[in-house]
Amino acid sequence: MTWREYHEATKHSVESLRRAPHGLDWANMPDPFRHYEGVPVLDLPSDPPVPQTPALGLLQGGSGFSTAADGATFLSQLLFNSAAVSASKRVGSTANRYALRVNPSSGNLHPTEFHFRTRGLMDWPDGQYHYRPSAHMAEQRAVGEVSFASDAPIVFLLTSIAWREAWKYRDRAYRYCLHDAGHAWQALALAARAMGCETQAFGHFPDDAVARGWRLPDDEWPMLLVELRGRAIPVREPDAGDAVWYDGQANPLSAEPIVYPLLESVQHATKLGDGRGIPAAEPAGSGSGEMQLPAPAASARAFGEVVRGRRSALDFVGGARSMSLPQLSAILAAASQPLAADFAGERFVQLYLYVHRVDGLEPGVYRYWPAEEKVGRGDTPADVSPSGFGGLRDQIKRGDQRVAAAGLSLGQDLAGNACVAFSMIADIERAARAHGDRGYRYVHFEAGAIGQRLYLAAEALGLGATGIGAFYDDQVHRYLNLAPEQGQVVYHFAIGYPVPDPRLDA
Ligand SMILES: Cc1cc2nc3c(=O)[nH]c(=O)nc-3n(C[C@H](O)[C@H](O)[C@H](O)COP(=O)(O)O)c2cc1C
Repeated sequence: MTWREYHEATKHSVESLRRAPHGLDWANMPDPFRHYEGVPVLDLPSDPPVPQTPALGLLQGGSGFSTAADGATFLSQLLFNSAAVSASKRVGSTANRYALRVNPSSGNLHPTEFHFRTRGLMDWPDGQYHYRPSAHMAEQRAVGEVSFASDAPIVFLLTSIAWREAWKYRDRAYRYCLHDAGHAWQALALAARAMGCETQAFGHFPDDAVARGWRLPDDEWPMLLVELRGRAIPVREPDAGDAVWYDGQANPLSAEPIVYPLLESVQHATKLGDGRGIPAAEPAGSGSGEMQLPAPAASARAFGEVVRGRRSALDFVGGARSMSLPQLSAILAAASQPLAADFAGERFVQLYLYVHRVDGLEPGVYRYWPAEEKVGRGDTPADVSPSGFGGLRDQIKRGDQRVAAAGLSLGQDLAGNACVAFSMIADIERAARAHGDRGYRYVHFEAGAIGQRLYLAAEALGLGATGIGAFYDDQVHRYLNLAPEQGQVVYHFAIGYPVPDPRLDA
C-alpha cells in the first residue's frame, strides 16, 4: 500500500457513494472519551484565567502572557483553551446532550487524544499524563523521570484512534484523523502562544518506538509530538528518581470495534522506523496575485473568548450580508503565517477561493498567493507595505460559484451559502518526494492547521466557519483545471454568517 493507492481508493465520486451506502450502527458508536482507569487523577483548576490577548493579533504572529504560578494552573489554562469541553448540544428535541470541544473534529467524533510529559513544573509531579477532557483532569500514567528525549519542560503527544472516525467514515477516516490532529496541534500551539510560550511540532519520529515509550494501547497511533518552551512556564528543579508506571487500563470504546484493513495499511505505509534527520523539501513554486489585498481588518476579541466560543456553522445565511475585503485579507493573513513544525519549513497547501459575497471582489474562483514578506512578529499590520498582504490571482473562473461550491462539497448547502468557500490544494507529490509516504500525513496536518486558523480568524471577526472533509475529489480537480502536478484537493472550508443553532448550549 502506498499513499497514492490509499488516496485513490478513498476518493468520493457520485458512483462511489451510490455503490456503498452506509448506515450508522448507533449501538456500536465509539465512546468519544478515553479514560485510563486505575491511575491517580490530578485536578486541573476549573475556570482558569482567560487569556485577554486579541485572538487576531496572535493569529498574525503576536504573543500573549500567562501569570500562572504553578503547574496545575498553567496546564489547566493551556488545555482549557485548546482541548477542553466548551459547549453542549441537545440531541433533537430530547433532554440528552452531547459535548463539543475547543478543537473541532469531523463528525464530532474526536479521534485525537492529548498525552503529555512534564519535567520540573512548579508544584506538579514530573511524569506522564493523559488529559481527560470529560472532567478537565490529568490522569497520571507515570510519575518521576520518564525518559525525556527533549529538554523542554512540557512535551505533548497527540495520538489518533482511527476506529472513532472509521465508525462513520470507514476507509476515508484516515484523512480525517490527520486533519483532526492538525487542528488539535494548532489549537495547542495557539493556546501556548496566548500564554507567551513557543511550540515546536515534530511529525518525523519512529512510530513504534514512540508508541512503546509512551505505553500507548494498540488502538492509539502517535501522530505529532509538540514541545513547549517559554519563560511563562512556572518551573523548579526536576524530580530525581526513576519513573514509576501506573499505566492504567484504557477503556474499551465500543462493544465491537471494527478493524478497517485499508486504515491499518496506510498507517503502516506512513510509519517511520528511524525518525532522525528530516529531509528538506523542494521549495514551493512562487507567484504573486494580480490583485493585491488591502490591510487586514482588526479585531480586539480576546483569545479565550474566541477559542471557547468557536463553533462550526451548520449552515450560513445565504444571500445576506457580504463580508469585507479587509476581513478576507485578515483571514488569509492568519492562514498563511509560518507553522512551527519540522515538516512545515516548506508549505504544501495552496488556497483556492470560491468567492460568493465579498465586497469589492467579483464572484469567481481565485488562487491565493501569500505575501513573500510575512507580517513580522511585533509588527502591526500598518507597518507592512500593501504588497505584504499577498494577492489573489485574478481569476480562474468568473461568475456565480454558489452551485458549484456546494455541488463539489458533496451537495452541502453551506459551501454555497457562505461568503467564501475554499479548496485546499496540496502538492502531495512534492511532499512524497521529500518524505516518502510519510509526506501524506504532513500535507493533511498542514491543511488541518490552516483550517484551525481559518476557524479562529473568522470567529474573531464575528463570522462563522466550517471545515468540510467531504468533497468529490476528481470533480474538484476538473473544475479547477488542475494539472496533476498542481496538486490534489485535501480539504474544503466555508466562512460566512452562521444560521443560529437552536440545539446549542454555551
Ligand atoms: C476535518 C473536519 C472535517 C469536517 N467536515 C465537515 C463536513 O463535511 N460537513 C459539515 O457540516 N461539518 C464538517 N466538519 C465540522 C464538524 O462536524 C464539527 O467540527 C463537529 O461537529 C464539532 O463541532 P464544533 O466544530 O462546533 O466543535 C468537519 C470538521 C473537521 C475538523
